[in-house]
Amino acid sequence: MEENLKIPAHVALILDGNGRWAKKRGLPRQLGHKKGCETVEQIVEDAARLGIRYLTVYGFSTENWKRPAEEVGALMQLFRYYAKRLLKIAKANNVRVRMIGERSRFAPDIVEGIDSLERETKDNTGLTFVIAVNYGGRDELTRAVRKLAADCCAGKLEPSAITEQVVNSYLDTADIPDPDLLIRTSGEIRLSNYLLWQLAYSEIYITDCLWPDFNRDELIKAIEQFNQRDRRFGGVKA
Ligand code: IPE
Ligand code: IPE
Ligand code: MG
Repeated sequence: MEENLKIPAHVALILDGNGRWAKKRGLPRQLGHKKGCETVEQIVEDAARLGIRYLTVYGFSTENWKRPAEEVGALMQLFRYYAKRLLKIAKANNVRVRMIGERSRFAPDIVEGIDSLERETKDNTGLTFVIAVNYGGRDELTRAVRKLAADCCAGKLEPSAITEQVVNSYLDTADIPDPDLLIRTSGEIRLSNYLLWQLAYSEIYITDCLWPDFNRDELIKAIEQFNQRDRRFGGVKA
């Protein structure tokens, strides 16, 4: 009963399984990543049309730099290409694009691509599409603690005034609500350093579907299951 679905405000996605998708077909991993990017484009449109307010997608983790140089290089090329396509999709669908993670490690033209995506879509009022690249939950918390400590040393903040809200305000996601639903594709049951603070009370949905095969129907299935959950926060209903 799709029309009666309660749509979660914020869906976080760990898109996994591009490599396995390619392997199953005897193709190079890069082609799995390319197909995975096309799936991301499609899901952004689907999420916008379903009325999801925030969609946060894990595109590249701080650990992914350890992959073979050839694969990392191919992923960087895909970022370049799809950032341009994403700009068109975002404009056509009233989508605001945001990036979380530490962008300075990327080549200058990729940083410029990310900056212009954010700049040119900042006034859009539909879905906020958050891309986590060179993102790690521990890295985000470490950077936040560094800034917090610097502000304490500079006398801008008293240690005793540090509340959960203050910590939250130092994160990359400061102005973004916590995810209601986390979806991970390809059957792996772990967080892989994703949104460690923000996922504290999110519902988790794991599917065996490989990311390049993920589509609107799979997203609806996840949301349907989310609708059947009895959300609790410390034993208290939502
Ligand atoms: C997810 O697919 C994409 C990235 C992490 C960049 P993988 O590349 O992890 O695919 P598998 O897990 O090897 O199948
Ligand atoms: C998580 O997938 C990171 C992204 C989806 C970008 P990985 O495939 O890198 O994670 P692990 O190694 O299986 O935990
Ligand atoms: Mg993987």
